[in-house]
Amino acid sequence: MAGNEKTTSSHTGKKRSTFSGKLGYVLAVAGSAVGLGNIWRFPYLAAKYGGGIFLLTYLILMLTFGYALIVSETALGRMTKKSPVGAFQAFSEKLPFKLGGWINAVIPMLIVPYYSVIGGWVVKYLFEYLRGGTQVLAQDDYFTGFISDGISAEVWFLLFSLVVIVVLFAGVKHGVERVSKVMMPLLVILAVFVAGYSMTRPGALEGVKYFLIPNFENFSWMTVVAAMGQMFYSLSIAMGILYTYGSYMKKEVDIEQSTAQVEIFDTGIAMLAGLMIIPAVFAFSGGDPDTLQAGPSLMFITIPKVFASMGFGTGAGIMFFLLVLLAALTSAISLAESGVSTFEDQLGLSRHKATVLMGVIMVLLGSASALGFGVLDFVKVIGMSILDFFDFLTNSLMMPVAALATCLLVTRVAGLDQVIQEVEQSSRFKRKKMYCFFMKYLAPICIVIILLSSIANVFGWITM
Ligand code: PHE
Repeated sequence: MAGNEKTTSSHTGKKRSTFSGKLGYVLAVAGSAVGLGNIWRFPYLAAKYGGGIFLLTYLILMLTFGYALIVSETALGRMTKKSPVGAFQAFSEKLPFKLGGWINAVIPMLIVPYYSVIGGWVVKYLFEYLRGGTQVLAQDDYFTGFISDGISAEVWFLLFSLVVIVVLFAGVKHGVERVSKVMMPLLVILAVFVAGYSMTRPGALEGVKYFLIPNFENFSWMTVVAAMGQMFYSLSIAMGILYTYGSYMKKEVDIEQSTAQVEIFDTGIAMLAGLMIIPAVFAFSGGDPDTLQAGPSLMFITIPKVFASMGFGTGAGIMFFLLVLLAALTSAISLAESGVSTFEDQLGLSRHKATVLMGVIMVLLGSASALGFGVLDFVKVIGMSILDFFDFLTNSLMMPVAALATCLLVTRVAGLDQVIQEVEQSSRFKRKKMYCFFMKYLAPICIVIILLSSIANVFGWITM
């Protein structure tokens, strides 16, 4: 959260911190939003689900559906001064809405364990670059060997989780956020540099085209499903985070404008990451379909090859993975923090106990995900590795339900008017008509599509 926050009293009588202004708010949300989702997840999904057509679908969804949901969650949070469970209860005590609040609150608790497994992979790569293993990391089977070797990935995962938990205990979250404000611009500069390098490799131009130019032949339903899941993930929608951040937001901050800025920032970084990774895939494999389908391992396989082929590759590797690590850490901390505050508020636990509980959940579920490529290799949940399963469960099944709950809360219980009034407290609501249309029609339709497709996918009726 922004270093420059203040505390005010809310109507609950408890002190509640607020961001000091729009910049503080935008930076805090962007700091949480920019993470592995942008640098690791977005490029591999774009590579897998059709390149330019995925990008186009993503942009359309973000500007319409995503926009309406961010505005809604932020406004509901600011109106009620509560995180999701409380915000839902403030409007309705009925069971479906209680569950709606809870599902929003549980999602970050399920994401942070496997998020930390990937955080662990990043720490391992950073460590290897520091040891000068630039060429070793670029070997073809290095990554697969690492994640399947039994306990190595587990150890790095535990290390990453330990840092997250220690930070939560120490409560130095604000300090970390401040560091990330310096690191984010550095990440952008490095990303521009690496993307420039990657795009100018022989054969890379095909990759740039694949990523930027929509080809309708590559379109499938799963493009929409994946793009929607990614939009939730990357913008931290449908996981209670924006309710909480909204509850810290001052009344005079322009919700529409800050939403637009967060979207631009987050998407900008994701696109840069796409331009780093996808052209490199084409340069190093000629756009081999198997490599494009690589999935979660893409960043860990292609980026080391780029670095190994360039001068100062070791330095670039250290910088790159250090910055990814910082982006991942700040996001993991805010995910875990959201879990901790839910435990504190709803279960009445002390901060200390709530943190221990979150830590236990992280270690248990995370270990299963980390070992799922090694000793637990035989465990497959609906055909997926454990890590992929948690990713699928949260992004493709739970988040649509959470988003649907928010839509219904806005349209059926709170009323669109209340949200509009909240937004208008600070400024004219420029896209009011669009907003109402999206919430009433577009969002529920999109959500039903994604849910049905995900379920059809589970039963094998359509393939991802
Ligand atoms: N949006 C983050 C990312 O792209 C993930 C995240 C979600 C972080 C929710 C914090 C809260 O990596």
